[in-house]
Amino acid sequence: MEQKKFKKIGILSSGGDAPGMSAAIKSVTCSAIARGVEVVGIVGGYAGLINDDVRPLDIADVSDIISHGGTYLRSARCDEFKYEEGMQKAIATCKRHNIDGIVAIGGDGTFRGATDLSIRGIPCIGIPGTIDNDITATDYTIGYDTAMNSVVRMGDQLRDTSESHSRCCVMEVMGRDAGYIAIETALALNAIGVALIEIPFDKNAMFEKIKAMRAKGQNSFIVIVAEGLGTEFGESLTKEIEKETGVESRFVRPAHIVRGGTPTLRDRSLACVMGDKAVDLLLNGVSDVVICSRKDEIIATDIKWALIVDRMFKNKLKDGDLDAFSAEDIKAMKALCEERRAYFKNMYDIIKTIGC
Ligand code: F6P
Repeated sequence: MEQKKFKKIGILSSGGDAPGMSAAIKSVTCSAIARGVEVVGIVGGYAGLINDDVRPLDIADVSDIISHGGTYLRSARCDEFKYEEGMQKAIATCKRHNIDGIVAIGGDGTFRGATDLSIRGIPCIGIPGTIDNDITATDYTIGYDTAMNSVVRMGDQLRDTSESHSRCCVMEVMGRDAGYIAIETALALNAIGVALIEIPFDKNAMFEKIKAMRAKGQNSFIVIVAEGLGTEFGESLTKEIEKETGVESRFVRPAHIVRGGTPTLRDRSLACVMGDKAVDLLLNGVSDVVICSRKDEIIATDIKWALIVDRMFKNKLKDGDLDAFSAEDIKAMKALCEERRAYFKNMYDIIKTIGC
């Protein structure tokens, strides 16, 4: 079959914004134009496709956005796009603007949308952009590094005030139902404890350690909890720490603050490399894949594979989810889930051993 000649591609960001999304938009735009392909920006994610909010993008439009936080094309979560009627409106917009393919930056919801469009004849490629790092198929998502560095900056500040007042501060960090930000920042902040969904939390061991360290003269303590444990968890743990250890405690929730800010070098670089790879693949006839970083290599992973391995990792597989996959695929999914589980266990054990 003759390969489709791409004349124009669209780019959008969808779901929660993440620092580095603008860098990815810049990369996709410049990469496509350098290959002789026009680019349009779809404003506000899939809602922009439904509402025909589409505008041409040229190199000059994106020349200074690499350092911007948030997303230049704005973002939204779009319920209408989950239904056939919304999908058809989106397809009509693509046809009206002669959009031959789309690069969609976001998380798992974004990829579900991309695969739905690909099935209906609009080739799409996904780029993982979310602070949560909760796309199992990739080691890193765009925005994760910046968010972690923001948490570490805030945690260091919390340490200063906790030290002055001899307190324990419990900080809840974002991540939806994933504990990546929590576990990495707990280690970097020398937290005495970390609570997250992926590993059972040994709170009694933590109380004992706080008491022992206080007896040795330690002034301050930091505890990190993942948002996935629920809105009550951090506050009630804070009260429990005070009651069980006698150390005055405070609860802090930076929430959306960590979603903003100037992207780090690592997020910019990942965004640029993934953006260029997405364009290269799309123009060469590849679609319905998500660009992943695996062991320092940039690879393309089938979107359905990526969505199912996520469910497998979160123990949320539904009947029939694995039917379309070969034994080899399932083996690879299980191995990846084991790798991720081993990572969490190892990090948790290190924090339990050296955190103080
Ligand atoms: O997915 C990114 C994220 O910031 C999560 O960490 C958080 O649970 C969620 O989005 C918050 O969503 P919203 O911006 O809709 O409040």
